[in-house]
Amino acid sequence: MKTNPVIKTMLSHKSIRRFTNETPSEEVVKTIVRAGQQAPFASQYYSILLSRNSKRNPWKAPLLFTICVDSHKFELIMARRNWKLTTDDLVLLFFGIQDAALMAENMVVAGRSLGLASCFLGSAMFRADKIAEEYDLPTRVFPLVQLAMGYPDEDPPERPRYPLEFTLFEDKYPKLSQSTISKAMKQMDEGYLAQDYYQKAKAKISLEGSRKETFTYDNYSWTEHICRKWGQWYPTPKELLEQLEKRGFDITKKRKTT
Ligand SMILES: Cc1cc2nc3c(=O)[nH]c(=O)nc-3n(C[C@H](O)[C@H](O)[C@H](O)COP(=O)(O)O)c2cc1C
Repeated sequence: MKTNPVIKTMLSHKSIRRFTNETPSEEVVKTIVRAGQQAPFASQYYSILLSRNSKRNPWKAPLLFTICVDSHKFELIMARRNWKLTTDDLVLLFFGIQDAALMAENMVVAGRSLGLASCFLGSAMFRADKIAEEYDLPTRVFPLVQLAMGYPDEDPPERPRYPLEFTLFEDKYPKLSQSTISKAMKQMDEGYLAQDYYQKAKAKISLEGSRKETFTYDNYSWTEHICRKWGQWYPTPKELLEQLEKRGFDITKKRKTT
């Protein structure tokens, strides 16, 4: 594989959940957000809220960015030009998520280059109401994800990823054989087990319902964890849809037919 300082930095990415007390300067904050903004965009369909309230921020992070899909701002521009938004909310949301995610990851990388580290928080969308209240968000501004950032006070190993052949498919999507699936699962599970990740984090998700626990921290790893997470925690999109509707994104509405 090729290597250079950018590739090295990207391959040594790790989420950090423990930060020093050092407060990043205003110049550092502005540089990170400005670099984030230079990500490719479909429509700059996002806004970033910042909290420097380290006492309240998750993991007592000195910075907490809330990355929002923002239709409000764009609709103000359209109104100035005497236009009304007619595009379906689901389409806008998909583009908005892409714009916001690319911006956010650019911020992560920019932060790294300045010695900062970070961790995303995916719970934002399920707490949209509370976040909206706290930041006085207008409707049609949806808090997608949060990003805690600061100077790192831990140095965990890099977390594993799927093998490349389980990720990159050339020309045609292959029929995935059982042995390919097993290899991908093994790489993830053995990678996390080697780091004692779930044991150290005490992160085993307890089983609900009648399923009997058969795992200990000796064999509980990523594939079991992720199955419990997506198989048990988020059974319906109802809560999310409610949050979206409250924020003004009525993605269930019928498309206009002409
Ligand atoms: C959209 C998104 C949501 C995430 N939410 C959380 C979270 O709520 N809590 C957490 O500790 N980590 C969260 N993470 C971080 C992931 O757990 C982490 O990126 C993943 O385990 C891989 O580890 P690494 O970033 O150290 O390589 C999130 C990451 C993303 C991209």
